[in-house]
Amino acid sequence: MKRLVFPGKNFPVYVFDTYEEASLAAAEVVVSEMKKKPEFLLGLATGSTPVRLYRALIEKCRAGEISFSRVKTYNLDEYYPIDPKNEQSFLAFMKANLFDHVDLPKENIHIPNGAATDPAAEAVRYEEELLAIGGVDLQVLGIGSDGHIGFNEPADEFILPTHLVTLTEQTINDNSRFFRAKSDVPTHALTMGVGAIMRAKKCILIANGKNKAEAIRGAILGDPTPKNQASALQFHRDVAFYLDKDAASEIL
Ligand code: PGA
Repeated sequence: MKRLVFPGKNFPVYVFDTYEEASLAAAEVVVSEMKKKPEFLLGLATGSTPVRLYRALIEKCRAGEISFSRVKTYNLDEYYPIDPKNEQSFLAFMKANLFDHVDLPKENIHIPNGAATDPAAEAVRYEEELLAIGGVDLQVLGIGSDGHIGFNEPADEFILPTHLVTLTEQTINDNSRFFRAKSDVPTHALTMGVGAIMRAKKCILIANGKNKAEAIRGAILGDPTPKNQASALQFHRDVAFYLDKDAASEIL
């Protein structure tokens, strides 16, 4: 593992040989933070990136090292529109990859409702839940190949509250691997804005693979810009990056 710190950038970047090592190191952070506070507020991400981290959390929970019984989870985003029962929904993803395997009470799960009839009202409802907690204790993040965090796509501005977003062609292409056909990928999503992500007390961003290298370079070394939404994290008070060497290849 290499720990990189860049001049003028006030956060650590950890580079590992493999995705597995990066995930396990990130899992250690989640576990040690969870142990400090049973009523932990945990911000979660979907996508293939956090899957290994979630498997480590399941193992730690099964071993009795951590418990989710008093944890509340807050997911970054959900496709819109989508039936939460659809196996492509982010709720279904979270159940399959974490929730169904740990002692997390159902009522402690928070995620935008992809089946809400009025997405604007649903965005307001979710933002009110997020504002009520004042910020999660720890937010797990992946990054899109276009630099998105949550589904905050490249734009002319940072949108702070939860909102409905139109997915970019690049994101639809990236995510089509989870669907039978590209045309099945929803074109919209409800996402936490950058505001709730910045309110997290701690953020850890995991990235692996060459297709993330350019987005990671912009996020870490570029001037902060809404064209790379992850670059907002440069202003976060406690953020760390966990990368495999491919994702770090443009910053080494
Ligand atoms: P991925 O998605 O983990 O499936 O690459 C990451 C993201 O879109 O944030």
